[in-house]
Amino acid sequence: MIAHENQQQQQQPPPNNQMQSSNQSHSFNSKLKTLILYSSSILILFLAISFSFPKTNYYYTVQHLKSTLTTHPTFFQSILGFFDQTQKSQQTQKLNSIFKPSHCVLWMAPFLSGGGYSSESWSYVLALSEHVKNPRFKLAIEQHGDLESLEFWEGLPQDMKNLAFELHKTQCRVNETIVICHSEPGAWYPPLFETLPCPPTGYGDYRSVVGRTMFETDRVNPEHVKRCNRMDFVWVPTEFHVSTFVQSGVDPAKVVKIVQPIDVKFFDPLKYEPLDIAKIGKCVLGGRNPNLSSKEFVFLSVFKWEYRKGWDVLLKAYLKEFSEADGVALYLLTNTYHSDGDFDNKIVNFVEDSDIEKPVDGWAPIFVIDTHIAQIDLPRIYKAAGAFVLSSRGEGWGRPIVEAMAMSLPVIATNWSGPTEYLTEENSYPLQVDRMSEVMEGPFKGHFWAEPSVDKLRALMRGAISNIEEANAKGKKAREDMIRRFSPEIVAGIVADHINKVLDKEM
Ligand SMILES: *[C@@H]1O[C@H](CO)[C@@H](O)[C@H](O)[C@H]1NC(C)=O
Ligand SMILES: *[C@@H]1O[C@H](CO)[C@@H](O)[C@H](O)[C@H]1NC(C)=O
Ligand SMILES: *[C@@H]1O[C@H](CO)[C@@H](O)[C@H](O)[C@H]1NC(C)=O
Repeated sequence: MIAHENQQQQQQPPPNNQMQSSNQSHSFNSKLKTLILYSSSILILFLAISFSFPKTNYYYTVQHLKSTLTTHPTFFQSILGFFDQTQKSQQTQKLNSIFKPSHCVLWMAPFLSGGGYSSESWSYVLALSEHVKNPRFKLAIEQHGDLESLEFWEGLPQDMKNLAFELHKTQCRVNETIVICHSEPGAWYPPLFETLPCPPTGYGDYRSVVGRTMFETDRVNPEHVKRCNRMDFVWVPTEFHVSTFVQSGVDPAKVVKIVQPIDVKFFDPLKYEPLDIAKIGKCVLGGRNPNLSSKEFVFLSVFKWEYRKGWDVLLKAYLKEFSEADGVALYLLTNTYHSDGDFDNKIVNFVEDSDIEKPVDGWAPIFVIDTHIAQIDLPRIYKAAGAFVLSSRGEGWGRPIVEAMAMSLPVIATNWSGPTEYLTEENSYPLQVDRMSEVMEGPFKGHFWAEPSVDKLRALMRGAISNIEEANAKGKKAREDMIRRFSPEIVAGIVADHINKVLDKEM
């Protein structure tokens, strides 16, 4: 019954994350109630089969579960489009024929959403399922922490879809499950917005509960500190986060550094030909000088269009340092973030309102790529660049920086927050910070982050084009460091070690 009602609930269009009026807030509350029911019914769907009911009861539960699944596929299953009876029974046979450990790691993350936490959670799950030999735990996944995006799901390669399908069906006993809540702490139980709560039924029922999160500023707010301290462990990606979390009041005994993997086989420069980015880039300032015979030197930046990413710093440094005569080009691979996508006007207006003077030789050209780039083409975009540059004010990890480094590009990136974990003088051009500044808007208002130096950025960009040998040596070292420290097998080992430690702990 409940499952049926909630099925209808889930077929409504997904609401916004934020409540906007009291009217909406009322319906939000009632939806949340239904969601909690839904979550416990989900939980029953997943876990009931493994509970040690008296035998008759057990079989009843299995029958019930089977018929529920047949008649009412859950939202997750319908969005995954994998609900198929034959596949299911083959799967069950396979499961029965292979010995499986009884412990479980239930990874709850925005697997179906796209975005930072989504790709990060995929990278862990792929690393664990591929590289942990004879694991002491089964792996299960569940969507949590953000809205599902059909476009994102459809763009995933088939083998990832199959893995999601398989891992979503893993059956676990509550008391033998370590839950990983991979999201911002506002999504953790009880969630501050509409999402499947993590852990699903609150704390205390599970073997252990781990929060995986990060921030881009110098601190963690008190509400989030409280939520972190409800967890048994909090996994953060860098030393920077270990120190900001502990300084903000998170119990130091709970904070564990778990770095992020990068798929160094996929991001391998030897495997790709450069994409013809001149074809897909829109020229928004300056133009090509037909008199320059050799190909231009391409600076590439990849970011969501938000103030935090320091695009203003980048444009200033680039336009002040270079003119058309330098034979350089800046390509911005960007997309919208709570803003419209009119990047041409944003850039032109920014330049007009700034103190940047047009060089006598003409503007050094700026190109924008704002079309959807399939994941499979991403390495070819890096391959088309001479250097990668990102002058953010704060980063959790800095995924595009790491991708560029794996592609052997020399990178110029702000030496503050997450990237301090991996930027060195030998493998990159760490960009010095001028000062700290207060965050003026958004969820981190009142926190502080970094103001990267425009002058230092100018010098580093100039350095990268005038000493190509040095730049290439840094790029080569960058890939070596990525392989040595963050390749999936290395990080899978780090994660599995910590999970095994948790399993070894006396209850
Ligand atoms: C979990 O609960 C089941 C059923 O009550 C029990 O058989 C099993 O030993 C428990 N596992 C652990 C690790 O305590
Ligand atoms: C290209 O060279 C020609 C001849 O030297 C000159 O007249 C023209 O202005 C140059 N064009 C640009 C865009 O610099
Ligand atoms: C980058 O930041 C780290 C941590 O603050 C610091 O130890 C290092 O010296 C910095 N590197 C450069 C090149 O400024």
